[in-house]
Amino acid sequence: MKILVTGGAGYIGSHMVRMLLEQGVDVVVIDNFSTGNWNEEGRIIEGNFGDMELLEKIFSTEKFDGVIHLAASSSVEESVLHPVEYYKNNVLNTLNLLDVMIKYGVSKFIFSSTAAVYGEPDYFPIDEKHKVHPVNPYGQTKLFIEETLKFYEEAYGLSSVSLRFFNAAGASPCGSIGENRAVETHLIPIILKVAKGIRKNLSIFGTNYNTKDGTCKRDYVHVSDLCNAHTLALKYIDEKPGSHIFNLGTGSGYSVKEVIDTVEKVTGKEITVESKTRRAGDPEKLVANYEKAFKHLGWKPLFGLKEIIQHSWNWEQNLQAQKQRMKMKKNAPARSQTFDKQALTFSAI
Ligand code: UFG
Repeated sequence: MKILVTGGAGYIGSHMVRMLLEQGVDVVVIDNFSTGNWNEEGRIIEGNFGDMELLEKIFSTEKFDGVIHLAASSSVEESVLHPVEYYKNNVLNTLNLLDVMIKYGVSKFIFSSTAAVYGEPDYFPIDEKHKVHPVNPYGQTKLFIEETLKFYEEAYGLSSVSLRFFNAAGASPCGSIGENRAVETHLIPIILKVAKGIRKNLSIFGTNYNTKDGTCKRDYVHVSDLCNAHTLALKYIDEKPGSHIFNLGTGSGYSVKEVIDTVEKVTGKEITVESKTRRAGDPEKLVANYEKAFKHLGWKPLFGLKEIIQHSWNWEQNLQAQKQRMKMKKNAPARSQTFDKQALTFSAI
């Protein structure tokens, strides 16, 4: 089986690529390294997943069985501040990718969607029948593609699984790959940087929400569990063509303060916090009902919050050494391919 993974050098992508390779899948990655870590595995083409010329070249030379589309702009906060970038990247570029897939007869698409499509939920845990009503541009861009996929199935026979991630978190258990963004906005990596002593404190965005302790509640789901769901989804659309949607969360929600407590327990470090006003675009609570994924994909999360934090802590402690190694790899020759538009050839860099 040959799969194209967009965003394969990113946080979730690098775990995904490793899992697919372990399963004997032939993997090609396309990534522009705008936010990604340096992925050490798989065949990498450096470029934008919405670049039609590049996609034409790739699809005309490689015969893919499917595409796992992980590349996206994915910060809720940033999407509120700069929506136009979100519509261009998450919508326009994804439509380009779908165009080329259809042209070359690649009919299996696994799409990273998000719990942000639900907006402010009416009930908990949230199942897939819950109404969709995004409260930020990020969620809306993902919903647009989900809905497009339904019509593309009818018109072009494109089969898809949209996976609505709740809060992706964690790292590989040994701590060899994990989250590493130039600008970090996510809760768990920020708290761990405070635990490590490289950030002074954690700002808690909002302490007057209607939750037990006044802070926002989220469903943190381990990155390995998310990747596992993608491999199950690929098998699923083999047997059940269509356009499917599944929630991926654990069914357990934790407030920001509960996450801080767990970090303190796991790391033995005290976390200094300061209370700030609410962050724009943040829903109060997001907790998944994942029964549908369990029933149809046979998926269930294996890791809980404690393991998520332990694995992320292992990664944080390795991070300096990993960064050094990644830098050395990046400078080494023949790691990735760029598409030379002039000569219409692939060349190694
Ligand atoms: N938070 C803080 N302080 C921080 C960072 C975050 O209090 O420094 C709070 C946020 O306000 C939020 C919670 O911690 O209540 C989690 O925030 P994250 O930034 O870690 O994650 P989000 O819930 O904003 O978003 C994540 C993904 C989205 C996805 C969403 C779905 O980044 O892509 O989960 O649940 F849509």
